[in-house]
Amino acid sequence: MRNLIRCAPVPSAFATPADLTGLRDRVALVTGGANGIGRAASIALADAGAEVVVADLDLDGAEAVAATVGGHAIHTDVADLDSNRAAVAFAQQRCGGLDLAFLNAGVTSGTGIGDDFDLAAYRRAMGVNLDGVVFGTQAALPAMRARGGGSIVATASLAGLVGVPLEPIYTANKHAVVGLARSLGPALAPEHVRYNAICPGFANTAMTKSFREQLREAGFEILDAEVVAETAVRVLAGQGTGECWFIQPGREPAPFEFRNVPGPRTAPPAAAVPTGEVKA
Ligand SMILES: NC(=O)c1ccc[n+]([C@@H]2O[C@H](COP(=O)([O-])OP(=O)(O)OC[C@H]3O[C@@H](n4cnc5c(N)ncnc54)[C@H](O)[C@@H]3O)[C@@H](O)[C@H]2O)c1
Repeated sequence: MRNLIRCAPVPSAFATPADLTGLRDRVALVTGGANGIGRAASIALADAGAEVVVADLDLDGAEAVAATVGGHAIHTDVADLDSNRAAVAFAQQRCGGLDLAFLNAGVTSGTGIGDDFDLAAYRRAMGVNLDGVVFGTQAALPAMRARGGGSIVATASLAGLVGVPLEPIYTANKHAVVGLARSLGPALAPEHVRYNAICPGFANTAMTKSFREQLREAGFEILDAEVVAETAVRVLAGQGTGECWFIQPGREPAPFEFRNVPGPRTAPPAAAVPTGEVKA
């Protein structure tokens, strides 16, 4: 039964309640929705009244989440463009269209870049973490245009904002997702499609299981998946575009302000260009 799910009572990361009424009766695609952050987001979206399509490589997990939220499940490999298109077509057939996409499926790289370089692991990490977001976007856009607009959130990471020497490949593809969101926000605004990214720190999911104790021993706090999901759902429902929301323990999530980043500039008016001439 849809719309009766309530999230586990994790304290909100925000000082003020969100207006999620815009999500009611919207159709949402969640990639990587079978586990972790995607699972929590599927529950939060259903709790806000959305109809959720859970898309994941892990079909059993996706079906379990779909059953929990009264939604739908489809086996999807986000690293494959046709698989993304099939997931969107499935949402259109089952739910009549697509309004929201949380492009969240992701993996750790499993490779370094020196003697430990593993080409297959590299391709997989780039395929899921970058191609998965690009392909998911490419597949979702026609369906959103057909509805007059939509809202997309991609899961990057704090590793999309800072260098992580221990995980350069993951850091590279998450920086790419941040670049995509910053570019597509303004690019898609005329079509009424909002496009944002979230940048969570370490979260309590299968992804961090193997090194979570080391993180705790080193003093890192670990986010609940529900806190990350809460932020993703707020951003899906919000007004901004081209934003990259950091999510850290003990701090209210917010769009990161890229201050003083140099970019291409148009030439100043000729009169303002110093000529180097010394006037007599
Ligand atoms: N857990 C963290 O500390 C953390 C921090 C920052 C960002 N993230 C990002 O959050 C997102 C979700 O990760 P999580 O922590 O919930 O991990 P998770 O392992 O619990 O969930 C990831 C999900 O993605 C699915 N998946 C993997 N490859 C896929 C593919 N090719 N096609 C479809 N589905 C696929 C998995 O089956 C799984 O259900 C990822 O993009 C990850 O990079 C996680």
